[in-house]
Amino acid sequence: MPASPLFQPCFSPETLMTSSPSLLPPIRWPAEAIWEAVAPLLPGFTVEVLPEIDSTNSELMRRFKGGPGTPPQREPLLLVAEQQSAGRGRLGRSWQGRRGDSLMFSLGLPLQPADWSGLSLAVGISVAESLEPPAAGQARHAGRPRIGLKWPNDLWLSTPQGERKLAGILVETASWDGLRYVVIGVGVNIRPVALADSAETPLAAVAPGGLQELDSGIDAAEALLRIVPALVQAVQAFEQFGFEPFQVRFGLRDVLSGREVQLSDGSRGTAHGVAENGALRVHTAGGMVEVSSSEVSVRPVAGGTPPC
Ligand code: BTN
Repeated sequence: MPASPLFQPCFSPETLMTSSPSLLPPIRWPAEAIWEAVAPLLPGFTVEVLPEIDSTNSELMRRFKGGPGTPPQREPLLLVAEQQSAGRGRLGRSWQGRRGDSLMFSLGLPLQPADWSGLSLAVGISVAESLEPPAAGQARHAGRPRIGLKWPNDLWLSTPQGERKLAGILVETASWDGLRYVVIGVGVNIRPVALADSAETPLAAVAPGGLQELDSGIDAAEALLRIVPALVQAVQAFEQFGFEPFQVRFGLRDVLSGREVQLSDGSRGTAHGVAENGALRVHTAGGMVEVSSSEVSVRPVAGGTPPC
């Protein structure tokens, strides 16, 4: 194995097979393959896998800030956790995932886009396309599950039985001395399990979907390998070009398009896709409005038209 700056503090290759703390089968994380794909794009990139942490997002934020005797971490880092004791979702919600049943990771890196609008949407597009490539996504076979995007950044699994949340994204930033560091947290349900986010929208307030409904052979390690290199490229494209090149790709998977939605201020309207900056366009009684993710949450009205 070539020397590379990978850290797996609790699992060396030798102990991986024998000393899993939960006595569950070890997960063979493709840390080396990911590092080889990403390091040429992101100098200084490292991969770290932990058996448990409170939250990978929280940990990367702590490392960015540093502390007494702990130098700040400002280099690109992929942190994967097999378990999280206090996983966090958007809007102060919690995110629960079980070892092997969920993929939980955060990617932290310095980023300097001219405009941050739409970054979390671009991340969702990249993750969705990695898990269900566009060609397959566009050819709609009757009854085949599809991965859709629910603005601003949830991935939904659409099946003939309905729509369920498949994955969530939590993007956070920190700055120090003019340096902006972004932490992109991604949680993907691999196997459908108990409710992961019961405070979700009515349509998704059922047991979440699992990626294995789409691809029965996939596991958390394989999903990570599919997602991360493409995600790094997407984030770098976003840094250079902003959200505009992602707009059409979002539209191909937009599960809210044409549906009645309710905004967090109580107003209602029909969703009309996203603008060039990633804002949701909603036709309300007062005309077309553009809603940015920081201002509102969007709740499909029960009984809204399902996507075709
Ligand atoms: C959401 O759906 O509201 C976002 C969920 C994000 C969950 C991931 S799991 C890895 C990373 N660490 C966290 O604490 N949250 C994100």
